[in-house]
Amino acid sequence: MNEKNVKFTLNGKPVTLTVSPSATLLDIIRDELKLTGTKRGCGKGECGACTVIMDGIAVNSCLIPIMKVAGCHVETIEGIGNQEKPHPVQEAFMDLGAIQCGFCTPGMIMSSKALLDKTPNPDRGQIREAISGNICRCTGYVKIEAAVQAAAEKVKEEISK
Ligand code: FES
Ligand code: FES
Repeated sequence: MNEKNVKFTLNGKPVTLTVSPSATLLDIIRDELKLTGTKRGCGKGECGACTVIMDGIAVNSCLIPIMKVAGCHVETIEGIGNQEKPHPVQEAFMDLGAIQCGFCTPGMIMSSKALLDKTPNPDRGQIREAISGNICRCTGYVKIEAAVQAAAEKVKEEISK
């Protein structure tokens, strides 16, 4: 298929790429840009492992045709924090043992960050709803929910500093 150019903002930086229009955002993030923090699970919108934030909304990148991303702002797990300076959600996941096998963790963290960006004081119901599209096969969501609650406190503290 004829390749096309697409421009968007990725983790705060403009990118221009020549892509196959049949590629998904997930294909481009992982295979083209080598940002492998975003995971490929089911590839059909069911597991949430590929969650990124697009224009402020947590989306399954495996379902987004790359041409739909033109002009949008995309954040991946690499854009929100790193080992030296983790995002409060990443810190809380580590502190509270919410990372189990870790495959679902990047997606969980992106869904949680999108929630906290819009809803700084979520209740457990809102947290559950926000991560409802993220499947963790390691059983417990209890630590994950507790970590998101703790992250909300950390974000509030950082804002008030
Ligand atoms: S890989 Fe996208 S939802 Fe599973
Ligand atoms: S920690 Fe989520 S699938 Fe294992």
